[in-house]
Amino acid sequence: MNLAVDGGRLTAELEELAAISSEPAPVVTRVVFSEADLRARDLVKRWFREGGLEVREDPVGNTFARWRGTHPDLPAVATGSHIDAIPNAGRYDGTVGVLGGLEAIRALMRSGFEPRRSLDLIVFTAEEPTRFGIGCLGSRLMAGTLDASCDDTMRDREGASLSQVRRGAGFSGPLAAVRLNPGYYAAFVELHIEQGPLLERRGTDIGVVTAIAAPASLRVSIEGEGGHAGAVLMADRRDAFPAAAELALAVERAASSTGSPDTVATVGVCRVFPGAINSIPSRADLEIDVRDIDGLRRDAALAEIEQAARRICSARKVSCAIELINADPPAGCAPELVSALEAASEALGLRWEKMPSRAYHDSLFMSRIAPTAMLFIPCRGGVSHRPDEYASPESIERGVWVLAHALVGLAG
Ligand code: HGY
Ligand code: MN
Ligand code: MN
Repeated sequence: MNLAVDGGRLTAELEELAAISSEPAPVVTRVVFSEADLRARDLVKRWFREGGLEVREDPVGNTFARWRGTHPDLPAVATGSHIDAIPNAGRYDGTVGVLGGLEAIRALMRSGFEPRRSLDLIVFTAEEPTRFGIGCLGSRLMAGTLDASCDDTMRDREGASLSQVRRGAGFSGPLAAVRLNPGYYAAFVELHIEQGPLLERRGTDIGVVTAIAAPASLRVSIEGEGGHAGAVLMADRRDAFPAAAELALAVERAASSTGSPDTVATVGVCRVFPGAINSIPSRADLEIDVRDIDGLRRDAALAEIEQAARRICSARKVSCAIELINADPPAGCAPELVSALEAASEALGLRWEKMPSRAYHDSLFMSRIAPTAMLFIPCRGGVSHRPDEYASPESIERGVWVLAHALVGLAG
C-alpha cells in the first residue's frame, strides 16, 4: 500500500493548534470549555470537515469525525485523543493523537483505501483533571464509569456545575446520552507521546503499550486555627500548613517505600488559606495523585497516605477531611491489537518495544467498552506537561505511519 504521510502539513497544523492557548507561547494552556479550548475545537472541526469527515458532538463535547465505511452497519473502528492542556503545558500531549489520527485518515484516503468499517476520529472532552478535578471526564462518561448525576454534583473552582459550564459552551442534551455500549466500537487505538524517557533513551521508534497505569486522586483539606503571624506564640499555634508539609513528605515516602519503581505519588496542588505572609494558615488544601501499574500496590500506598494524614493531623491538633476523588483499576491492552501494532511496526522496519503507560489516557476508559491499544512515540528527554515538551516531526510521522497501517487491518 502506497501510504504517504504529509509530515509538513501535520507539523504546520500542530503549530497552528499550539498557538491557541490562554497563555502566551511557548506555553500551551487549554483548560476544558475555556475560550481557548472552544477556539481549538472550532479549528480542528474545520480541518475534519475539510478532510471530508462527518462531524458530530455529544452532550459533553466529545467530538466524533467519521469516515463512513462501505459497511456502515458494522461496529466502527476509532482512534483519537485530547486537545485540552493543563496549565503551563506543551504542544504534543494529546494533539499528536488527534492531528496524527487525522493525517493517518487523510493518508489512507489519498492511497485509495476504502474502509469496510467506518472510521471515527475522536476528540475526548476534558482528558485533563484541571477544571473538574477528575481526568478523562469525556471517556469516563462514554464508558459509563461515571454517573450522569455528576452533571450537577461536579463543580469547578468557581462553583459552576458541569451542567452550567457545558451548556454555556454550547453542549446540551442529557449526559446519559454520552454512554456508548460495549460493541459500539470494534477497536480503539490511541497515538500519544510517551511522556517518559525510555523510548528515546533506548533509541526505539515505537512503544506498543501493553497496560495503562491505575490512577487515583485524593483531596485532603486540613483545618487549623488562623491568627496573627507576630502575636501568636509557637506553642499556641494550630498551623495548617506545617501539617500539610509533613503530609507531603509522607506522600513521597509512601510511594518510594513500596519496593517498586512503578508506584508514584505527587502533591500537585497545595492551596493555603488565607495566603497572607503575616497570617497563620488556618487551612491547607492538598490534591494528591497516586498511581501504579499494579492496582493493589497503588491501593496500599493510598491507605498509607490516608493513615499518615490522620496521624499527622491528630498529633498537631488540626482536623483533616479526606475525599477520594477516583481510584481506577489499571487497564490491559487487547492482545490482538498489541500484536497488530507490533506487526505493523515490524512491517515498516521500525524499532519497537512493548511497554506500560505510566500516564493515564482516554484509552484507560475506552478499554472498558472496546478492544483498545496505544502507540507511543518518543519525546525529548521524556519531558511532558511542560512548555519544552517536544516530539520530532520524524517521530510523529513514524507514529502516524504505524497507526495508518494498523487502521487498514482493523477497518479494512
Ligand atoms: O496525568 C496524566 O497521566 C495525563 O497526562 N492526563
Ligand atoms: Mn496530559
Ligand atoms: Mn495526554
